[in-house]
Parts: sequence; structure tokens; C-alpha cells
Amino acid sequence: MNRIRFALTAAALAASVTAAQAQQPPLKVGLMLPATGTFAALGDAIEKGFKLHVQEQGGKLAGREIQYFKVDDESDPSKATDNVNKLIKRDGVDVIVGTVHSGVALAMARAAKESNTLLIVPNAGADAITGPQCAPNIFRSSFSNWQPGYATGVIAAGKGYKRAMTITWNYAAGTETVKGFTEAFEKGGGKVVKDLSLPFPNVEFQALLTEIAAQKPDVVFAFFAGGGAVKFVKDYDGAGLRKTVPLMGSGFLTDGTLEAQGAAAQGLITSLHYGDNIETPRNTAFRNKYAVAYKANPDVYAMQGYDAAQMLAAGLTAVKGDFKQRDALIAAMKKAQIDSPRGKFTLSPQHNPTQDFYIREVKGNYNVVTGVAVKALPDPGRGCRM
Ligand code: BEZ
Repeated sequence: MNRIRFALTAAALAASVTAAQAQQPPLKVGLMLPATGTFAALGDAIEKGFKLHVQEQGGKLAGREIQYFKVDDESDPSKATDNVNKLIKRDGVDVIVGTVHSGVALAMARAAKESNTLLIVPNAGADAITGPQCAPNIFRSSFSNWQPGYATGVIAAGKGYKRAMTITWNYAAGTETVKGFTEAFEKGGGKVVKDLSLPFPNVEFQALLTEIAAQKPDVVFAFFAGGGAVKFVKDYDGAGLRKTVPLMGSGFLTDGTLEAQGAAAQGLITSLHYGDNIETPRNTAFRNKYAVAYKANPDVYAMQGYDAAQMLAAGLTAVKGDFKQRDALIAAMKKAQIDSPRGKFTLSPQHNPTQDFYIREVKGNYNVVTGVAVKALPDPGRGCRM
């Protein structure tokens, strides 16, 4: 008799929890990503990845419908504060997911901190976001700029190169990635003899390529991404440099770009926390579902968007969709182990993925993983007080 009453009570409780979840209004998710400019394809892939995970959960996270609000940030830091405030103040979003460009993300992090809005960064690597600007309500599903730079420096030093030149756009992602490369390369016995840069998103590389040809270093390390990376790799090849000075880069140089780069990219070696041929059931399932949904292969950006949704889902599930339980939601996000297509990862105390950095080589249209440069590389999180 008692057992029957207990079973009925439990069933009633479960039904009322589900009913309570169903009664909650949709969770407002603000997507602030580039839809135009050199990073437009990256923003598109992040959005597709995020939405794929939500679709896998039946269009809801922890029982909550998701309502999207979108802003094209144009990868323009000068418009970033106005743009993010459209989501925070005009639309009243619960969560912001964005963005690609480090300079834009820094302004977003400031606004998120001031308004205590939950922010998940699905790409931008600005070191300060998990450094001096860290905050309990700011998370990253991607990387810090230091990480892929450092991992590529480990590979270049391991190959025995001694004199390197670097080339990048002159903004946080470029300078911080180069800093990471230099730290590992010089620790490994090499020397960076010259840093070259040009303003973002300029793609007039010719004068800088002429300087590389004159200096003849053992290796060139480059950070470029999106449309700029396509042009740089083609120009480097076109200048005849690939045969004389090996080109390496953080993996953004060749991710999401290979169809456009074609023969110019073949054989390039890069490092990143993702590769196209990670043969785990998790990655295979992700790639198949993405291909079916979007008739395209996913890249690192799609994967990071997918994992931003997984991180949000981990927090929301712990509070049964009740977003008002912010402390419990954040605590759950902090300690989640994310079953990512890249491999499982956890977050550093500053909320940045601690993850493996792969050695990748371009073969055809794929970044093929050939080894691991650094296992479980944490972001140093320098300057973060939380
Ligand atoms: C950045 O600005 O942080 C960034 C942009 C594209 C690829 C990687 C990093």
C-alpha cells in the first residue's frame, strides 16, 4: 500500500516538475557573431554548431525552449559596445554567445561583467577574458590565444628550426598568439628574429613577403583566419616562398579555408584543439549529423559553437531549466566535463578549456591529425582574480 502511494507521489512530482519546466518562458539566447566581413563564415559555422546541439535535444535545453536574438558584430570593435547592449538592454537576453574577434569580445566581456549577463565565448581567444577580465559569469568553449601559439612553438622547436619570423594582424589575437609561439619556440632553443604585422583585416601582404624572402628564416609562423588566411596562404605560395621557407601556423590558418586555398595549402603543418579525422564515436556522430543538417563538413568553429551549447546545457540541466538559480547553474558549468567532438575537456579555474593540442597536416581538404603537440594544455589564466 505504502509502496503504491510512494510510486504515485513520485510520478506526481515528476509530472509537476515537467509541467513547471513547460510553463517557463523560452530562454533568450543572444547570438553576437560576424555575418559580414573576413570572419563571416566563422560566425555562420558557430551558429550552425550551436543550433545543431539544441536540435539534438529536441529544440530545447533542459526542457526550455530557446528563443534566438541575433546581432551582426561585423568584427568591428568600435561598434561592439553598442551591439552587445542591443542584446542586453533592448532584447533582455538571458545568455550571450559570442564572438569570433578578440577585440569585439573584450568589449562584450566588459558589458557582460557590468550587467552580470552570462557570456559564453565560442571562439575569440583574447587572453584577458580568462585573465584580468575573468568573471564568474564569463565562460569560453574555445581557447585562449596563447594556447595554439604555444603548441605550434613546441612543434617548430621540435623540428629543430632555430630562426623564426612571425607574421600576423596587429590586434589581440595576432599579438597574443605570436607571444605564445615565441615563448615555446625560445624555450625549445629557437629565436624569433623578427615580428611582422599589418592592421586587421588588411590583406596586402606583398611587402612583408618580400621581407621574409630577404631574411630567409628557417620557418615562418603565421596567425590569420577566415578570408584573410585564404589570401595569405595563396600569396605565400604565389611568391614562391613555400619551397624555400616552411610555413607553420596556429590551425586557424587552414581551418574552414581548404577548399578555397587548394594546392597552396597542401602539406602545411599547424596546431589546434581539433582536426578533421579524430576517430572517436563522438566526433564521427557530430560530423555525420552536421553534414546531414547543413550539407557541409564542420570545422573548428562549428565544433566550438556546438560545445558552447553543451556547456549551457550542463548548467541548465543541473537547475532543471530554472535559469534564476544562477549560482547553481554557474557551479555546474564550472565543474562540467564536456564530451566534445575534440575529446573530453574540463575548464580551468578561469573558465577556459584545458585541452589537447594536435599536430595537423593538410591533406586534400582535411586537416589530418598526425600526433599531439601538447596534452591537456591549460590556459595560464595570468592576472585572473575570481
Ligand atoms: C580572434 O580574434 O580571437 C580569432 C579570430 C579568428 C580565429 C581565431 C581567433
